[in-house]
Amino acid sequence: MSSLEIIDLKTHFPTPDGHVRAVDTITLSIMENETFGVIGETGCGKTVLGLSVMRLLPPTATIAGKIRYAGRNLLEVSEAEMRRVRGEEIAMILQNPTTSLNPVIRVGEQIAEAIRLHQGLNKRDAKKKAVEMLDAVKIPSPAERANEYPHEFSGGMKQRVMIAMGLACDPALIIADEPTKGLDVTIKAQIVELIQKVTEKKAMLLITHDLGVARELCDRIALMYAGELVEYAQIKEIFENPLHPYTRGFLGSLPDQGLVPIPGISPSLIELPDGCRFHPRCKYTTDVCKQKHPEMIEVAEGHFVRCFHA
Ligand SMILES: Nc1ncnc2c1ncn2[C@@H]1O[C@H](COP(=O)(O)OP(=O)(O)OP(=O)(O)O)[C@@H](O)[C@H]1O
Ligand SMILES: [Mg+2]
Repeated sequence: MSSLEIIDLKTHFPTPDGHVRAVDTITLSIMENETFGVIGETGCGKTVLGLSVMRLLPPTATIAGKIRYAGRNLLEVSEAEMRRVRGEEIAMILQNPTTSLNPVIRVGEQIAEAIRLHQGLNKRDAKKKAVEMLDAVKIPSPAERANEYPHEFSGGMKQRVMIAMGLACDPALIIADEPTKGLDVTIKAQIVELIQKVTEKKAMLLITHDLGVARELCDRIALMYAGELVEYAQIKEIFENPLHPYTRGFLGSLPDQGLVPIPGISPSLIELPDGCRFHPRCKYTTDVCKQKHPEMIEVAEGHFVRCFHA
């Protein structure tokens, strides 16, 4: 059964320079127990996609489409109901732990506060639960560390705190935005293992640049380019049989493949190219690519690609 269904989602930001089409028609669904990865270059709209599901966008944003979760469209529920959803059903582990944690509040208190707000526990029980959560994410001496401030934690430890905070209310769906960014290899491996364990029976939308991390954690992945998905399939299928030129370029730009970056830069989300959004950077471009916007087509079971030449 699907946990989350995103249908024709468009999230735009009207700005003085123009209309930023950050998420521009995304449809995807995530099954219960599934980890679905979204991968793409910087600025393609990954974080905005996650924030749209949580409805944590600035008031200037316009959002259209449907986000179905547990029998309702989250874009239509009240703000009060949405607060409950954020506390109890869906958690987002934000991209940047340094700015997401409050520097002047002790770590244990920050987690306890989230628990108290959503689970109605008293202060003492919430604090106790916060320590349990720190223990669950393998922070040594959790009772003592709970009394420390964020700056006393290393990058990897802060990331664990973010995960503890996300899991504190036992959500069924987790949106993790670059949970391993900026961590060195050993710490990254530990965080990946931790995420794997704590999300075993949950649905997860994993946003990452890191194909290695995606490969370890995801059941399926989608490649996102300039606000839209260009290919998605089972993880194994993507690695063995990538079809979209962007996917191939992305796989080829892995450090262990010799790092051959895709030539050119992603388009501005204000002035998207006509036709296929990738055509200005694609070596297979023909006339049709410049004129028509390709639809997502299922080329093999469960393998979808948006390319005329796939
Ligand atoms: N509040 C906003 N107002 C205007 N534009 C915005 C706003 N928030 C994000 N954007 C734009 O939306 C686009 C998508 O941003 P987003 O943060 O989702 O990218 P991303 O894929 O997460 O990148 P990264 O990999 O660097 O985290 C960017 O062009 C960004 O500048
Ligand atoms: Mg981001």
